[in-house]
Amino acid sequence: MVRDLSRVDLGLDDLPGSELHDVLHAFRAQGPVQPTRFQGNPAFVISSYDVLLEAFLDNERFPPHLMYKHSLEPAIGESFISMPERERHLLYRKLATPAFRSRAVASYEREGLAALAHEVVDGLAGRSEVDLMADFAARFPYLVITRLLGLPREREEEFHAWALALLRYREEPQLALQASKEFTAYLTPIIEARRSEPRNDVISELILAEADGRRLTDAEIRAHVALLFPTGGESNHATLGNLLYALLSHEGSWQLLREHPARVGDAVDELFRWETSIALVPRLSASQPVEFHGMEIPADTWVLFAITGANRDPAVFTDPDRFDLDRKRKDGLTFGRGVKSCPGMHLARRNMQVGLEVLLERLPEIELLDLEAALPRRAVLRCPDAVRVSVGRR
Ligand code: HEM
Repeated sequence: MVRDLSRVDLGLDDLPGSELHDVLHAFRAQGPVQPTRFQGNPAFVISSYDVLLEAFLDNERFPPHLMYKHSLEPAIGESFISMPERERHLLYRKLATPAFRSRAVASYEREGLAALAHEVVDGLAGRSEVDLMADFAARFPYLVITRLLGLPREREEEFHAWALALLRYREEPQLALQASKEFTAYLTPIIEARRSEPRNDVISELILAEADGRRLTDAEIRAHVALLFPTGGESNHATLGNLLYALLSHEGSWQLLREHPARVGDAVDELFRWETSIALVPRLSASQPVEFHGMEIPADTWVLFAITGANRDPAVFTDPDRFDLDRKRKDGLTFGRGVKSCPGMHLARRNMQVGLEVLLERLPEIELLDLEAALPRRAVLRCPDAVRVSVGRR
C-alpha cells in the first residue's frame, strides 16, 4: 500500500525495496511533475521518462552545475562538475576523462581488472559467511578507480570513508571538510611525485594537460582527482550491492548466470534499469521562477530528477517492476543525459560485469542470509546496508 504522498521526504525517508518505486508510481499517476519534500525543503519530483529526458536537456530552467556548486565544491574545490560555463565544463571534462572512454576501458581487462576482483575474494578465504557490501563491493571499485587515477594503495582502508564523506557535504559539512583535509594531505606528495616522474595514469595526464592556454595548477588537479575518486568509487559500490540483491533475491538467477555466464551483460544492463544507485539526482532550479509542465517552480528550488522513476515508467517499459533478464528494451536514464551524462558509464558497466563474473566463479554456492538488510534503501545513493551471504562449498 502506498503511504500518504504528502508526508514523503525523498531526501530523508528510507524507502526500502518496492516502497520507493510505489511512491514514484503514485506521483507519476498524479502528473509528471509533482510537489514534494527533499531534506525538509519544498521540492518537485519528475518521475516520467519523457518529461525527465526533457528536463535533463533543459539547462536554462534546471542549470546542471548549480547543485554541485553548493553541495560538492566546498569539499573538493572547483572541478568540471560545478563549472557554470559550458565551454570550460567541456574542456576540463575532456582533459580529465580520456581514461574512462569506451576504448580505453575495453583495454583494462588486459591490465588486470579481474585480477583485482580475484585479489579481494582471496582475502575472504576460510570464512563461511561474508557481507558482500563491506567485504567486496566497498573494495573492488576503489581498487579499480585508484589504479586508473594513479593513487597508491597504502591507505586503502580509508578510501571508502573519505569518498562517502566528500559526497556528504550538504548533510555533514564538518565531516566532509575533514575528509577533504586528509585527502589533500594524501594527494599532495603523489602529485609532486608524478610531476617529476609521469606515469600512465590520470594524474600524470592532468599534469601534462593544458587548459585555457596554461598548465593546470595543483589545486585544479587535486579537485579533479577528488571528483573522480568518490563519484567513480561510490556509485559502483552501491550499484554492485543492488546487483547482488537483485540476483540473490530472485530465485534461480544466480544459478542461471553460473551456468550461462554469457548472460552477465544482460543482468548488468537490466539491473541498471531496475535498481540504479543514483536513483534520484537533485537539481536546483534557475534563480528566477520557471514554469514546467503546468507547475510554477519558484526560484532556487529543489527539483528531483527521479531516474529510477523514469526507468520504471510503464509508458516506456512493459511490466516495469519485473527484473527480467530477457527484456528487450533496457536503456533507461541511468547515466543521465545532456551535458552532464556520466563519463564513467563504460567503466561502471565493465566493473559490474567483471566483479560479477569473478564472484560467480569463486563463490558459486552463495545464499542470502538477511533479506531485510539487503533491500536497497534511500533515493539519492540507493543501496543495501549489507548483503550477508553464506559461502557454502568452495
Ligand atoms: C553504476 C555506476 C554509475 C552510475 C549509476 C552513474 C550515474 C551518473 C549520473 C546519473 C550522472 C548525471 C548526473 C547529473 O545529471 O547531474 C553522472 C555523472 C557523472 N559521473 Fe557517473 N555514474 C556511475 C559511475 C561513474 C564512474 C565509474 C565515474 C568515474 C569515472 C563517474 C563519474 C561521473 C562524473 C564526474 C559525473 C559528472 C559529469 C559532468 O559534470 O559532466 N560515474 N553519473
